[in-house]
Amino acid sequence: MHLTQKAIAERIKNIDVVIELLDARLPASSANPMLAELTQGKPTLKVLNKQDLADSGRTAQWLAYYNSQSGTRAMGLDASMAAPAKALIKACFELAPKRGGMVKPMRVLICGIPNVGKSTLINTLTAKRAAKTGDEAGVTKLEQRISLADDFYLYDTPGMLWPRIIVAKSGYNLAASGAVGRNAFDEEEVALELLDYLKTHYPALLEARFKLTGVAAMSDEQLLEAIGRHRGALQGGKKINLQKAAEIAIHDFRSGVIGRMTLETPEEFAQWLTLGQTLDAQRQVKKDAIELDRKIRFKKIPRPDLRPSR
Ligand code: G4P
Repeated sequence: MHLTQKAIAERIKNIDVVIELLDARLPASSANPMLAELTQGKPTLKVLNKQDLADSGRTAQWLAYYNSQSGTRAMGLDASMAAPAKALIKACFELAPKRGGMVKPMRVLICGIPNVGKSTLINTLTAKRAAKTGDEAGVTKLEQRISLADDFYLYDTPGMLWPRIIVAKSGYNLAASGAVGRNAFDEEEVALELLDYLKTHYPALLEARFKLTGVAAMSDEQLLEAIGRHRGALQGGKKINLQKAAEIAIHDFRSGVIGRMTLETPEEFAQWLTLGQTLDAQRQVKKDAIELDRKIRFKKIPRPDLRPSR
């Protein structure tokens, strides 16, 4: 088991509420599927962070979606919020109303993928109160204990991605958002996927940013080339440098200069998940068949009798 996973599995036993920090532009794709397993149905506060970069109408849809789930509350957040502690503390006490006071302090675990803004949030939370970290008994080196009030402890965990992303679109959205390291994906491929989505859902924002018309009718490749041309990403005369164009498209999306955009809705994600699970099951069947064949060949396991019985 990954060290962070181990630390979470150990800590969760004495936790009252889990705060799951999500990226408001890709809420479901930025949710770690291993976390549900690890947190064993503990009350969860979904915090849609970086809401300043997301489409506000879609953030409202996601909040309603999460708030309709039992044991779950959701709120939007961004770094401009001056005092987020009050809102977070209030939501946690709503999820675990029996906790509170020095005898039964609220114990909260905060989790999130890399780059979701957890350090920024924790820095804001601890700006006024000294962060309690380090060598306390029961606090591992992989976590930090922060006291947000006399009866409110927040345990921080390192940002964690999961080893196998079965929803292909989530992989692209995570890469576009900056959660995945640069060397782990192909910028051109990610930019083409991103533009494919944006030209359908936010054509006017793309047209305004890159001074284009009719983006919805362009192929993804034409759109990437048009962006490169507009920004002077050229190589050897007039040829477009597609790598540079892809970097520009991804950078402008991440920084929010194109506009406020969200890459998925609850309905879309449900469809992607069904497709991802189907493909994953098919992959597993193929893998099992290859493994069985290998065992038969090399370990001389008797070949199963597949003739119909009489
Ligand atoms: P992490 O600990 O979860 O890995 O994330 P971290 O706080 O380091 O934040 C990652 C990037 O996201 C930082 O930008 C940070 O400034 C930015 N960020 C955090 N919260 C918000 C938010 O609510 N809204 C917006 N728009 N951005 C946010 P960076 O460019 O990587 O670093 P920096 O140059 O800002 O320091």
